Amino acid sequence: MGSLPRPESKPHAVCIPYPAQGHVNPMLKLAKLLHHHGGFHITFVNTEYNHRRLIKSGGPSAVEGLSDFRFHTIPDGLPPSDADTTQDVPSLCVSTTTTCLEPFCDLLSKLNSEAPPVSCIVSDGVMSFTLKAAERFGLPEVLFWTTSACGFLGYRQYRRLVEEGYTPLRDMSQVTNGHFETVIDWVPGMKDIRLRDFPSFIRTTDPKDIMLNFLIQEAEAAPRAKALIINTFDALERDVLDALSASFPRIYTVGPLQLMMDHVQDGRLGAMASSLWKEDLSCMEWLDTKEPESVVYVNFGSITVMTADQMSEFAWGLANSKKPFLWVIRPDLVAGDKAMLPPEFVTETKDRSRLMSWCPQEQVLKHPAVGGFLTHSGWNSTIESIVGGVPVICWPFFAEQQTNCRFSCVEWGMGMEIDNNVKRGEVEALVKELMDGEKGKKMKEKALEWKRKAEEAAAPGGSSYLNLENLINELLLQ
Ligand code: UDX
Repeated sequence: MGSLPRPESKPHAVCIPYPAQGHVNPMLKLAKLLHHHGGFHITFVNTEYNHRRLIKSGGPSAVEGLSDFRFHTIPDGLPPSDADTTQDVPSLCVSTTTTCLEPFCDLLSKLNSEAPPVSCIVSDGVMSFTLKAAERFGLPEVLFWTTSACGFLGYRQYRRLVEEGYTPLRDMSQVTNGHFETVIDWVPGMKDIRLRDFPSFIRTTDPKDIMLNFLIQEAEAAPRAKALIINTFDALERDVLDALSASFPRIYTVGPLQLMMDHVQDGRLGAMASSLWKEDLSCMEWLDTKEPESVVYVNFGSITVMTADQMSEFAWGLANSKKPFLWVIRPDLVAGDKAMLPPEFVTETKDRSRLMSWCPQEQVLKHPAVGGFLTHSGWNSTIESIVGGVPVICWPFFAEQQTNCRFSCVEWGMGMEIDNNVKRGEVEALVKELMDGEKGKKMKEKALEWKRKAEEAAAPGGSSYLNLENLINELLLQ
């Protein structure tokens, strides 16, 4: 990868993710790419809570770093806790916004008193307090919006949706009584988009709703950054990216980052891991024993919470489909309870199922035995599924997962949506269609087509490859 002549002092990027799994994973990849291809000294900033969990789940090598790739921590502002669970998202958004600026500035001062001085900040798009730090220190900042471009464009409409009275809702029945089917026809790049396809935080009756207002604030702060980075590729989201370019002249699409990492053959960087839960690797051997494209992989990411009833419907739907399945059930997946499956279900499916609490998902989705993915449509899961060429059944939970679901099903033709009020009969029917049906076959073809396009984007000379090069050169020129 070519780049401009290096400045005299080594460039130093401070990378700060939002403290959740779906954000730490892509930011660590981006940091490694900047280190490997751009020669950057990296400071990676975790919260104390996540740092402890990373050490616990991946061992010290996960965060030991190198002399020019260091990990630092700041407090997240929430009360200290030894738990290993997903933190409450609204509380974390409030606490990062209101408490992290000063500790972050203290860290920047400390880093600047050592060599090499900080030359730029690469911050998560939903940590916009860092823009104030950048302004205070006179540093350039680029924002990494770790979710889809379509999700980001959706958030960028929030202000107008409020002004035009679409949200806050009069009452929550509007979500199901037809109001949410309204087509919003003024969003460039999003044809026939319905209210229900927008990121979920419009599903509120409260004008002071924390998440609605947080996302309005973050989406509106984004143009203050020098540039925007997105973990997508041009062919996948072309119309949306064109629409965003009107407000963001400098967008670097550098995804799928997972494929970009194939250019980094460095065991020391590879040893730095980002899983907050300990991965159970035994599923890989189990998958090795299965026929090609025979297994349904089920995983709802790091934040989704469901009721015990919903879990039971998924369980019986999977059991009745008679397909082999690998199901990852986080200990905190079920609201207010430890996730428990009906004992008869476990007995009935034990010969063709594997249950675990966390797996190496990227590897699983690339395994030839996996034929379909029942997912919550988190952005990382969606793009990892594309990398694996695996079609999806979508059960979006929150945030921009509704938008990712819409694009997976309608624009990219590789998905089918499952009703929010999940019933075992529908799970069974959709799983059978996905694995054996005509529609499933078409979705598989589309998924493989997107996989090929993703590979082209990440190959030397491809759009993401060139964009990473241009991003590095822009950062080096600052
Ligand atoms: C979410 C989504 O990114 C996003 O839609 C939303 O805005 C907020 O955060 P999450 O729900 O965790 O994150 O989903 P996802 O984006 O799919 O990220 C999960 C990550 O954890 C993926 O990189 C996945 O590979 C990894 N993972 C998940 C594992 O490695 N093992 C597991 O068992 C489960």
